Amino acid sequence: MKRMINIALPKGRLGERAYKIFEEIGYGCLEVMENSRKLIFENKENGVRYFWAKPSDVAIYVERGAADVGIVGKDILLEGGHDVYELLDLKMGKCRMAVAGPAGKRPDSEKTLRVATKFTQITKEYFEKNGRDIDIIKLNGSIEIAPLLDLSDVIVDIVETGKTLYENNLEPYETIVPISARFVANKAAYRFKRDEINLMVEKISEKIN
Ligand code: PRP
Repeated sequence: MKRMINIALPKGRLGERAYKIFEEIGYGCLEVMENSRKLIFENKENGVRYFWAKPSDVAIYVERGAADVGIVGKDILLEGGHDVYELLDLKMGKCRMAVAGPAGKRPDSEKTLRVATKFTQITKEYFEKNGRDIDIIKLNGSIEIAPLLDLSDVIVDIVETGKTLYENNLEPYETIVPISARFVANKAAYRFKRDEINLMVEKISEKIN
């Protein structure tokens, strides 16, 4: 009997691209890509059960074992410090975490730096390492507005094409870390379903490399 692998997919473009890979390497499942309200899909023959989760929640499902494996952005892993195995860099969803601020301007290095971000942990670690005093302003989205309204001096956010920054007269100052999607596994599941998970990892890496 094949042991079922529970796979958490992040809702959205990245999850859909990741699912296409699963499908191409023999883990297809009917209805997954159908636009319905259903959230869990199963294919007993291929030994997989998929569910769509909010991207920032995937790591929680995997960490707690509700999913055996999942697709998660490195930003979420760094921010959440989740206790999971990171088995593969999927080399998709590539972007970077950066410090950005008003174009052509650099903040006064003597003053405490006001930093607006969703990623408070990454921000704290980065500026601590650089020995810089900061005041973190936690926001939940549209971070780019903060320096425009003088709520902050800079932001720490994800930059993909740079278009959002550019269109708001902002620019990247420094890159903190490159980001991409990762294939992660629950630690206990990796012990009990090691063969199945390793086979999956092998097939995915063959496909993407
Ligand atoms: C991210 C990020 C930027 C934008 C960068 O937002 O926060 O706003 O993408 O992309 P760009 O460099 O290609 O312009 P996302 O759309 O993920 O939503 P969010 O505002 O909820 O973070």
